[in-house]
Amino acid sequence: MARPNLLLLLLPALLSAGSTGRPASSTNLGGIGGEKLTHLRFFFHDIVSGPQPTVVTVASGASTNTSATFFGLVSVFDDPLTVGPKPTSQLVGRAQGLYASAAQDSMGLLMVMNFVFVNGKYNGSTLTILGRNQIFTKLREMPILGGTKAFRFARGYVQARTHSFDLVTKNAVVEYNCYVLHIDE
Ligand SMILES: *[C@@H]1O[C@H](CO)[C@@H](O)[C@H](O)[C@H]1NC(C)=O
Ligand SMILES: *[C@@H]1O[C@H](CO)[C@@H](O)[C@H](O)[C@H]1NC(C)=O
Repeated sequence: MARPNLLLLLLPALLSAGSTGRPASSTNLGGIGGEKLTHLRFFFHDIVSGPQPTVVTVASGASTNTSATFFGLVSVFDDPLTVGPKPTSQLVGRAQGLYASAAQDSMGLLMVMNFVFVNGKYNGSTLTILGRNQIFTKLREMPILGGTKAFRFARGYVQARTHSFDLVTKNAVVEYNCYVLHIDE
């Protein structure tokens, strides 16, 4: 039995407001059924070492240290998201969440995170991502499960590519491209 589509029922009320200007980091790719497909691109800075780390390890298992994939390691992060790959580039938001090493035979992280935007049209809006991140694979894909404010009813996916990884400090810069269907009031 098909369930009534809540999104379609609510569309007339939700589409009353027009859209305002959008920041340089986003592109409206058109829409499906009154929704918008927005592309966002930014860089994620995972700072593991140095005076101001943005990630902290909170748990590990008895065998984590002897595991080639750090199986069982859990870290919480609050990572800056910037327009460009340099740490000094303009801040667009933060990625807040946790990653857990959840694969025994290859590096595979379970990622649970919110992108919290702090700039322009999307200031105060969030996107929620949950997925599998094989960090040594060139292109990774993770689902967008939802969002708030400008990203209400969000669904879609993100593509992550490592821009740089320092083997000594373990600091990483990752390019994120988000493709999100949402209702933008
Ligand atoms: C694993 O290694 C870290 C860093 O060397 C250490 O702090 C931690 O106690 C070790 N954990 C176990 C379970 O041996
Ligand atoms: C984002 O919104 C907050 C809360 O409304 C506000 O204090 C802040 O100045 C805004 N930032 C930008 C860059 O617009």
